[in-house]
Amino acid sequence: MSALATVEDYRTTGPAALSIARLAVTRFRCYASVRLTPDARPVVLAGPNGAGKTNLLEAVSLLSPGRGLRRAGLAEMDRQGDVGGWGVAATIATPDGPVEIGTGREPDGERRVVRINGGPARGQTALAEFVSALWLTPDMDRLFREGPSARRRFLDRMVFGYDPAHAGRVTAYEHAMRERGRLLADGNSDDGWLSALEETMAARGVAIAAARLEMVQRLTRALAGSDGPFPGVALSVDGMVEGWLGGGPALAAEDRLKAELRTARRRDTQSGATAVGPHRSDLVARHLAKDMPADLCSTGEQKAMLIAIVLAEARLQAAERGVAPLLLLDEVVAHLDEERREALFDEICGLPGQTWMTGTDAALFAPLGNRAQHFSVADATISEFA
Ligand SMILES: Nc1ncnc2c1ncn2[C@@H]1O[C@H](COP(=O)(O)OP(=O)(O)O)[C@@H](O)[C@H]1O
Ligand SMILES: [Mg+2]
Repeated sequence: MSALATVEDYRTTGPAALSIARLAVTRFRCYASVRLTPDARPVVLAGPNGAGKTNLLEAVSLLSPGRGLRRAGLAEMDRQGDVGGWGVAATIATPDGPVEIGTGREPDGERRVVRINGGPARGQTALAEFVSALWLTPDMDRLFREGPSARRRFLDRMVFGYDPAHAGRVTAYEHAMRERGRLLADGNSDDGWLSALEETMAARGVAIAAARLEMVQRLTRALAGSDGPFPGVALSVDGMVEGWLGGGPALAAEDRLKAELRTARRRDTQSGATAVGPHRSDLVARHLAKDMPADLCSTGEQKAMLIAIVLAEARLQAAERGVAPLLLLDEVVAHLDEERREALFDEICGLPGQTWMTGTDAALFAPLGNRAQHFSVADATISEFA
């Protein structure tokens, strides 16, 4: 193993423009306290089932906005049998220099606390300005077969990387939607109040839809040319607001969404849901070579499509912005044949964003050699793999 680099070293020499240089995880799931000081190369975590590999990726995923890769509740991540509360702290090497991020739950805390460079952050959406992360987990093998909400989150997470404001937009939209739902459920018909919330939903909702559309068009262009070991994929967004945007200006779509929300008040009161808006949209994927919708493709083909999408997004960001998101690939490598495995390794080594990979079989990662840094995970301890 090479000597550990300092943040200063890979700001000037390293291939990865976005990487974790220091990670400290405290009282989080199976970990009492664990510290890693990786360099910018890909990180391999190998170890048996139950060793703590996914937990560590989950900790890393919490450096970006949202609930992390398991979408767990805050208290669920408390280390069982410990005093409660957890923390994830990291030094992130970015093109603008190192950024210190701390996040966690204070004992009995009900919100995720976020600190950036030592000061309190407005909320977790502020994280989007510094870290974007994309992940593939075994749970996502069913992404194209389940309901649309997981696909929307998958798409939104890709948009965060381009447009950090998107995270705030989604939060504001959902907040206004919940507030409106509460007013309607309480029988409150204060027109001024409802209209103000609907106005927020319309403005944010149309911006959300527009950002998703742009992302999907960009990705589809990037994916169409794919003739490598990962399949070409066509993506589109299926949604009412997205449809309006295809046929007219954004301001008209805003007015229309506002009018639709007003009209839907009675119906939404009865159903307890919100009938229209971008929270209903869906990401649609099609396997190009097979000319087949994703949900009709085999599990392996669906996984290959997801890898293709995530890699295309990372490549796009690399080309357009010089950085790529952190990629967290949980148990992905074991399911690839040798050719695809090698192709994946080559790709991630060329990306200006650090990739974290897990697997039970350290030998599968051997072809990476010293292009990556290899760690063993066993019983919630992590050591460099000799
Ligand atoms: N809140 C928690 N407190 C303590 N241990 C936990 C908690 N949540 C999960 N674990 C344990 O952490 C261990 C490692 O889990 P995981 O990281 O998913 O393993 P793997 O290496 O197979 O990915 C499991 O044995 C699991 O039961
Ligand atoms: Mg796991």
